[in-house]
Amino acid sequence: MPSHLQSNELVFFVNGKKITEKNADPEVNLLSYLRKIRLTGTKYACGGGGCGACTVMVSKYDPISKKIRHYAVTACLLPICSLHGAAVTTVEGIGSTRTRIHPIQERIAKGHGTQCGFCTPGMVMSLYALLRNHPEPSPQQLTEALGGNLCRCTGYRSILESSKTFCAESNCCQMKGTGKCCLDQEENPTLLSHQKNDICTQLFTKEEFQPLDPTQELIFPPELLRMADDLNKETLTFYGERVTWISPATLKELLELKVKYPESPLVVGNTSVGPAMKSKGHVHPVLLSPARISELSMVTNTNDGLTIGAGCSLAQVKQILTDEVSKLPEKKTRTYQALLKHLRSLAGQQIRNMASLGGHIISRHGYSDLNPILAVGNTTLNLVSKEGRRQIPLNENFLAGLANADLKPEEILESVHIPHSDKWEFVAAFRQAQCQQNALPDVNCGMRVLFKEDSDTIADLSIFYGGLGSATVSAQKSCQQLLGRRWNALMLDEAYRLILDEVSLPGSAPGGMVEFKRTLIVSFLFKFYLGVLQELKKMVKMTSLPNNHRYPDISEKFLSALEEFPVTISRGVQAFQVDPTQSPNDPVGRPILHQSGIKHATGEAIFCDDMPVVDKELFLALVTSTKAHAKIISIDASEALELPGVVDVITAEDIPGTNGTEDDRLLPVDEVLCVGHIICAVAAESDVYAKRAVEKVKIIYEDQEPVIFTIEDAIRHNSYLSCEKKLEQGNVEEAFENVDQIIEGEIHVGGQEHFYMETQRALAIPKVEDQEMEIYVSSQDPSHVQKTVSSTLNVPINRITCHVKRVGGGFGGKVSKPAVYGAITAVAANKTGRPVRLVLDRREDMLMTGGRHPLFAKYKVGFMNNGRIKAMDVQCYINGGYTLDDSELVIEYLLLKLENAYKINNLRFLGRPCKTNLPSNTAFRGFGFPQGGLVMESCITAVAAKCGLPPEKVREKNMYKRIDKTIYKQAYSPDKLLRCWNECLDQSSYHSRKAKVEEFNSKNYWKKKGIAIVPMKFSVGFGATSYHQAAALVHIYTDGSVLVTHGGSELGQGIHTKMIQIASRELKIPMSYMHFCETSTATVPNTIATAASVGADVNGKAVQNACQILLKRLDPIIKKNPEGTWEEWVEAAFEQRISLSATGYFRGYKANMDWEKGEGDPFPYYVDGAACSEVEIDCLTGAHKNIRTDIVMDASCSINPAIDIGQIEGSFIQGLGLYTLEELKYSPEGLLHSKGPDEYKIPTVSDVPEELNVSLLASSQNPMAIYSSKGLGESGMFLGCSVFFAISDAVTAARKERGLMEDFMLNSPATPERIRMACADRFTEMIPIDDAETFKPWCIPIA
Ligand SMILES: Cc1cc2nc3c(=O)[nH]c(=O)nc-3n(C[C@H](O)[C@H](O)[C@H](O)COP(=O)(O)OP(=O)(O)OC[C@H]3O[C@@H](n4cnc5c(N)ncnc54)[C@H](O)[C@@H]3O)c2cc1C
Ligand code: FES
Ligand code: FES
Repeated sequence: MPSHLQSNELVFFVNGKKITEKNADPEVNLLSYLRKIRLTGTKYACGGGGCGACTVMVSKYDPISKKIRHYAVTACLLPICSLHGAAVTTVEGIGSTRTRIHPIQERIAKGHGTQCGFCTPGMVMSLYALLRNHPEPSPQQLTEALGGNLCRCTGYRSILESSKTFCAESNCCQMKGTGKCCLDQEENPTLLSHQKNDICTQLFTKEEFQPLDPTQELIFPPELLRMADDLNKETLTFYGERVTWISPATLKELLELKVKYPESPLVVGNTSVGPAMKSKGHVHPVLLSPARISELSMVTNTNDGLTIGAGCSLAQVKQILTDEVSKLPEKKTRTYQALLKHLRSLAGQQIRNMASLGGHIISRHGYSDLNPILAVGNTTLNLVSKEGRRQIPLNENFLAGLANADLKPEEILESVHIPHSDKWEFVAAFRQAQCQQNALPDVNCGMRVLFKEDSDTIADLSIFYGGLGSATVSAQKSCQQLLGRRWNALMLDEAYRLILDEVSLPGSAPGGMVEFKRTLIVSFLFKFYLGVLQELKKMVKMTSLPNNHRYPDISEKFLSALEEFPVTISRGVQAFQVDPTQSPNDPVGRPILHQSGIKHATGEAIFCDDMPVVDKELFLALVTSTKAHAKIISIDASEALELPGVVDVITAEDIPGTNGTEDDRLLPVDEVLCVGHIICAVAAESDVYAKRAVEKVKIIYEDQEPVIFTIEDAIRHNSYLSCEKKLEQGNVEEAFENVDQIIEGEIHVGGQEHFYMETQRALAIPKVEDQEMEIYVSSQDPSHVQKTVSSTLNVPINRITCHVKRVGGGFGGKVSKPAVYGAITAVAANKTGRPVRLVLDRREDMLMTGGRHPLFAKYKVGFMNNGRIKAMDVQCYINGGYTLDDSELVIEYLLLKLENAYKINNLRFLGRPCKTNLPSNTAFRGFGFPQGGLVMESCITAVAAKCGLPPEKVREKNMYKRIDKTIYKQAYSPDKLLRCWNECLDQSSYHSRKAKVEEFNSKNYWKKKGIAIVPMKFSVGFGATSYHQAAALVHIYTDGSVLVTHGGSELGQGIHTKMIQIASRELKIPMSYMHFCETSTATVPNTIATAASVGADVNGKAVQNACQILLKRLDPIIKKNPEGTWEEWVEAAFEQRISLSATGYFRGYKANMDWEKGEGDPFPYYVDGAACSEVEIDCLTGAHKNIRTDIVMDASCSINPAIDIGQIEGSFIQGLGLYTLEELKYSPEGLLHSKGPDEYKIPTVSDVPEELNVSLLASSQNPMAIYSSKGLGESGMFLGCSVFFAISDAVTAARKERGLMEDFMLNSPATPERIRMACADRFTEMIPIDDAETFKPWCIPIA
């Protein structure tokens, strides 16, 4: 359609201001639009509706109901053209530091619910939309509202805690319906145990919060009310460069347009069309919007059911069905109840608000959660076209897309009729996903049976499965064959056989997990069978049927198959010690709120890409390899260069200086070594132009051998990145001769994606003079970026200034990688002479950047029958990817930390990083320890199983008991470790709860509980003194205000807050005098990466040093005028020409390691801790519920308990993700499948244990670090494995009952697939198993 045609004006409001867009482009989404008009509070993190970072509220007036609907949406999926007549509220619209902050913004910040702050505006807006509709929400509404918002830093507990203050019963957890509350001291043993004077359990003071006053909210613009009521509505058309958007006012017009443009989709929620256009590059020249067609939102009750307009959103459908269920007798609503079950877990709230029922049905996604239920419920689709109306059934033919059962191109779906169920009809729905909320299902199903009146004879049966392929599949033939059968075990056995035969799944099926999926097919059927049997039994009681209709009794023990895990809201106690004698003016040791907390919550905190567009700025997009190992024969960019807006293509030839190293080129010259290897980059006038041009750069490759992806292959090809590292003590061989038993085995630990919410970003601004360049980057190591840019451009380091204001999450992923992106951006800026911005797409980021190293270990353990381990020989291999990066260091740290908390006299640890054709893996929180520690704990668990001892006894038996030497001969004192362990046992009531777990397990066959307690000895710091040095620069200005600068980057860990607390204590002035501006290589040079948990320790010492120097200079003045004010002293100092600026320096902790000898003092100190977790697993589906976790950690004298507890909780939840959820899936060609939140699941709000208690060990000192504190950035990560071992304990209980081997080895992560398959039973036995040689799998294991 020609773009010179006159578009209608698009009118909508943003934060109460009218926007009239004369040239609205249908391809522009609200997120990019908002960011272009400088409302950068709304963040880009995934672009696919899966993370909630871009959440805003949309308000629309419905002229029929005369109501205004307020709902949260993901701006990244919302076309601006859909907003005509709507009001948008963004985080900036509800409050700001310049006007008044909103109570939500205040509470989330003061409740310590922000760390890096990148997710915070989205969280705030999800809560805001909830409170606009429910000013006093229930805890369940809260969890539902936040289910679509991801946070990678906090672990959610603090967000929930602050949000709960809005709930009516915010102070009461109801203790699972008992009416009692966990905060009631008599009810809570954890709280009771902290009832000592100096232990505090309050991280914030609720009393200081402003009340929520709904009358203060922005009103719906009256002009929009008038617009909505305006009867002279006409078709609106918006012409874009490639796409035209038509929004007709009447059904008649829509149907005419459908005749004219039969291929054009109807865009309602755009949650299906939008992602497809993006990922598959679909361009629809015309999009039809039925938003104003009232017929599509009608809801009608009929005698036999409910007719719902196809345009109703899934959230509206949920409300409509909830109302129906509350009104109608239970027997009529069974289909509705099944739909409601899935509507609670389908996507996040924002998607449910946007997605329509019609769009859902018509999209016919193979994973659809509703279509299987609608199909078994005999749903009818009411179609309309210019020719008239007709009905078609939503049945197997429709779902298979058969032409004669489908809509005609000119037809649309007007409404959907869902009949009531019958007295003798039972409907059920099941679904299993990687996690409970906001995850696409692995397999789902709808099942329905109709019995002949007053009997258990099957009159009708229908079963549909989703998640098994590209379409929902029906077990129609099997169902037909079962008609007339009685509902009993014989029928069930036949049903399994028939269905497995009919609903077959090839070994190569997309999505993988084939055997798991096959098992779910029959497991769900079994659940359905049992559920129906239960219902029939109730009916027998009610109708007293004759004897021949008696049903087999189901033992209580087997009923556990029927219970579902509820979505619950987390609660818990956070305890820390306070010093009652401390001066109230001294902020150190207090839970001070994050310095940027309020700005995070108002959206005013500026991240790299929030910086305004610079004059003449270009956007850079990267071209990456589609081959895992190949020669580059040619790069042809001619077509890309001809596209509009494209300015240049940057290749290795444009690098004026050094192109990386021989083994690790910045841009490759002639060879690519992994899929995702950066080849070249396109610079264009906008991100859209740059990304379009990337598709047009043609690379010709010549495949090379070998192609190595797995550790096993690397070992076979002798493909390593560095030499083998070794640590040894005692005489391992001799010890093996003298033990009672030996076990040998292997364990695999999967990798992990950092999933920092802010993807990698850089902005390079070349200066006119002297080859200077400013680089703004999201980096944990600005000096490394500066050095890399300098060598790449061949200019001295002093010409390059690197700035880091704040980083939206790093976790190790922004230590080495930002230098690559910074340098490529700088090359582009240098070549074009223009500022250049690079913002990686989530999918690109995940494809290219690598993450935590997957590990494969072989172990041999020799032990006595009493559980004492005498000898251990462990060989570890990690998958390093195609370049060295940090892999050698990671393997070193892994070996150093592998022994964890155990003193085993004879040890041999060997390790080597493998070189493969995958993206290079890099630093990640814990740096090898989370993988190595899991190996050690798995060995302990295996020894316990062999000895028939409880694992905690074997742990205790082998734990360090006295000051002793580690494997690398550094002295270690375990007193804190033992205190943490004992307090954790105590606070978690471990032994009594273990007895209860055993009792539960003896009574339940299909559900099992597990409990585990794990100790931790975590060594902090880098293994070299020079890496512990730090510097600071503190200026005092003449008004008395103080500017503090140091070398650490703010990653969300609150480093600047701690530095300001330190400066405040040292200078003895309030924190309000202090300011921190940015980390910059111009103010503090030659900095070390903010990593290894020591950022605050070492920079704190430097800040302390600078402040002490300054105070010393001021001392004579203060002595002379002791009653004077700070401002007077500062003024006097200026008058007396005393320098008010000082650099502070810390030379670093002494640390060394001699790898030749295998000994040294590599770590300045240790952080000890322990965690106890309890879980419940569903043996039939592999799902698990995190019931409770208790953590005791030695933070010594915490500088800021709120920040430190936040670090512990955040890293614990990240660890829980590593060990139980997060799975990287690579194709056999080395392409990462799991490239976004849809395919890669990080923990959501419902994964937080129902009860999460954290205590900081009291009365502990650490003379090594500033104010006797400790660095806690990484250690909590490992404690996530307590959940893994609790799962393993539950699986062991299931296996024991089924007579299977108890000493099995569970690989990490313990996903539903692994849990289900480990709980082997008759279902896992009955499924077909493919011969691995006969098919090509969808994904390959790389660990
Ligand atoms: C992040 C995310 C998570 C998700 N999670 C889940 C999940 O867990 N489970 C699940 O089942 N689904 C999930 N989905 C899919 C979601 O349910 C569907 O995308 C959604 O229901 C489609 O509705 P829509 O209104 O957005 O459709 P649109 O994208 O607007 O349209 C989709 C298609 O339907 C057609 N269409 C729409 N209305 C009509 C009509 N009235 N008549 C004829 N054709 C019509 C359009 O022409 C188009 O082809 C998820 C989606 C996202 C983005
Ligand atoms: S950026 Fe929109 S949902 Fe993730
Ligand atoms: S604070 Fe939530 S992602 Fe960082």
